[in-house]
Amino acid sequence: MNHIEQDGASQARDTIGAAVVGCGGISATHLTAIRALASDGVRIVSLYDTKPDRAEKRKAEFGGEAAAAFDDILRDPRVDAVHILTPHALHAGMVRAVINAGKYALCEKPLATSLADLDDLTRLDSDNRCLCCIFQNRYNPSVQRAKAMLDAGEMGGVFSLKGMLTWKRGAAYYSDDWHGVQALEGGGVLINQAIHTLDLMLYLGGPLSALKASVSTDLLEGLIDVEENAHIVLRYADNKTGLFFASNSNGMDDPPEVTIVCEKGALTLRGDTLYRYNENGYELLVDRSSAPVIGKAVYGSSHITQIHEFYSCIRENRPFTIGAKEAAPAARAVLAAYESSRENRWVKV
Ligand SMILES: NC(=O)c1ccc[n+]([C@@H]2O[C@H](COP(=O)([O-])OP(=O)(O)OC[C@H]3O[C@@H](n4cnc5c(N)ncnc54)[C@H](O)[C@@H]3O)[C@@H](O)[C@H]2O)c1
Repeated sequence: MNHIEQDGASQARDTIGAAVVGCGGISATHLTAIRALASDGVRIVSLYDTKPDRAEKRKAEFGGEAAAAFDDILRDPRVDAVHILTPHALHAGMVRAVINAGKYALCEKPLATSLADLDDLTRLDSDNRCLCCIFQNRYNPSVQRAKAMLDAGEMGGVFSLKGMLTWKRGAAYYSDDWHGVQALEGGGVLINQAIHTLDLMLYLGGPLSALKASVSTDLLEGLIDVEENAHIVLRYADNKTGLFFASNSNGMDDPPEVTIVCEKGALTLRGDTLYRYNENGYELLVDRSSAPVIGKAVYGSSHITQIHEFYSCIRENRPFTIGAKEAAPAARAVLAAYESSRENRWVKV
């Protein structure tokens, strides 16, 4: 039974109340997406941040009320869904609290920063109806087209995959109170920036069996206690291989890339663009690189698509597409990479 049904009368609600916890950078993207659903009855009820000025700022921009405490949101009967947009190490505890309060959780990536929490949330969300985790890039038209082509066998079998994310995150990015702090961010480039690209490697390539990784802190050594650079060699469950490289030491934010090498050529995703490669060269199949983005260009344009789907699922009483079972594998791969690098050995995933 889903949460809305639980509160009685299995009513089709006229309105769905949304709350946002964590009113920093990404909250503008979420609030813009929620506001666009006003005509569908979704409304911004409550905003909370431990820095009250941030909640007040978003209240002035988007409406709603500023809550004095997270618990007030949990107790508020007008709130049906809670967006969790806080530092990573807080995600799992907040998701649990939201679910236990009988509300839906929409959590930014990563779902959790420990294996124990990933296991626990996967148990709690056994039917994909309690929580949804943001992996907006899966909704990019380029990714959807690649997935459809691979699933339909248009490219023949898949031999290997390569993923690459090279962004720029310097000292200024890490000067706040949680980025670069292991206990709060849970890691660096892999768990924060590159987890999207790693998730696409799993979405398009299937489950992993093991990986071997090496991570390092280089330009910002001594300043941050999370990794800036990482490379991973992946072995998939069906024995194909993968290669993954991630860096926050680049001079700019390049569009993330994934290449899938297949029997009948290769597919390359670069941002929201898809190319097919064969003996005649590259053919452009999808180009949405200039689609409007809310927030930084590198977030892509699909947050709004996933957030709107989240509310459609609530309204139509459907399971969420990216619940705990879908969101956990990328986080597990990141945690396995950290273990592998620490112990300099292959780690089963
Ligand atoms: N999907 C994407 O493309 C994307 C892009 C950017 C950020 N994110 C994710 O969004 C989340 C937030 O990132 P951000 O860039 O907005 O960070 P941010 O630092 O700008 O905002 C985080 C906010 O959380 C608040 N906060 C900290 N502890 C809190 C608590 N206990 N209760 C309530 N609020 C608390 C902070 O005061 C801050 O305002 C992270 O999980 C991040 O990885 C995702």
